[in-house]
Amino acid sequence: MNEKKSEAIRQMKGRQRVAVLTAYDYPTAHLLDKAGIPFILVGDSVGMVVLGYPDTTHVTMAEMEHHVRAVARAKPQGILAADLPYCSYETPEMAVKNAKRLVAAGAEAVKAEGGISILPQVRAIIDAGIPFCGHLGMLPQSVLKEGGYHVKGKVATERQTLLEDAKALADAGVFAMVLELITPAVAREITKAVSVPTIGIGAGDDCDGEVLVITDLWGSSGDYVPRHVKKSWNLRKQMSEAVVEWKQGVIAPRSPTL
Ligand code: KIV
Repeated sequence: MNEKKSEAIRQMKGRQRVAVLTAYDYPTAHLLDKAGIPFILVGDSVGMVVLGYPDTTHVTMAEMEHHVRAVARAKPQGILAADLPYCSYETPEMAVKNAKRLVAAGAEAVKAEGGISILPQVRAIIDAGIPFCGHLGMLPQSVLKEGGYHVKGKVATERQTLLEDAKALADAGVFAMVLELITPAVAREITKAVSVPTIGIGAGDDCDGEVLVITDLWGSSGDYVPRHVKKSWNLRKQMSEAVVEWKQGVIAPRSPTL
């Protein structure tokens, strides 16, 4: 399997910060690869930024497989990880079966949301030889249960749970873990406490790396730019101008030809 690539990411801790971006299609994956991105994630954010769902709970295994196949065709040098979508890892057996489906589609590692609550699934996936990336903090797949996207780590009990979850994931053998919308102080504490890279998103500046949804970086998906995005480009404006300019050219009256 791809223990070599996951080990390379693990070894970056304390040596080199890890830049992670999402990709959902072949040309984007190709572009990220050429830019030397060492970790490409086919996130279930695909549901919101590509497929038009209101949140990630609608994304299916078949949809993830479709996008993983497209990204894998770019044969990136860095590791290609894919999200196990909502309700696809309810039991260890289910988690392994679906992780294997993503691997068959071209993923070299999988990610799922949760800590101690999904530890049997995490262990089963790693035992099956599939590198696993954790995901703690604000868990987008829990948005309906939690009634929104809330920053985690503000109260002592949350801090304690996050630390215990992070240590449990690291002990189980994950090669990295995403920390999403966690207070900077708690993200820093977790980063110091675990031996694998923490990949922050809206979690301050002291994680071992950062992840961003590619359309948030590009500013290509709409007017909304999440608060954690430090600098976004505005490609949507340029894309829209290109379309309008092209349309004007097409509909402009032609001079009569003889
Ligand atoms: O689905 C996704 O893109 C993610 C990242 C934001 C970490 O999980």
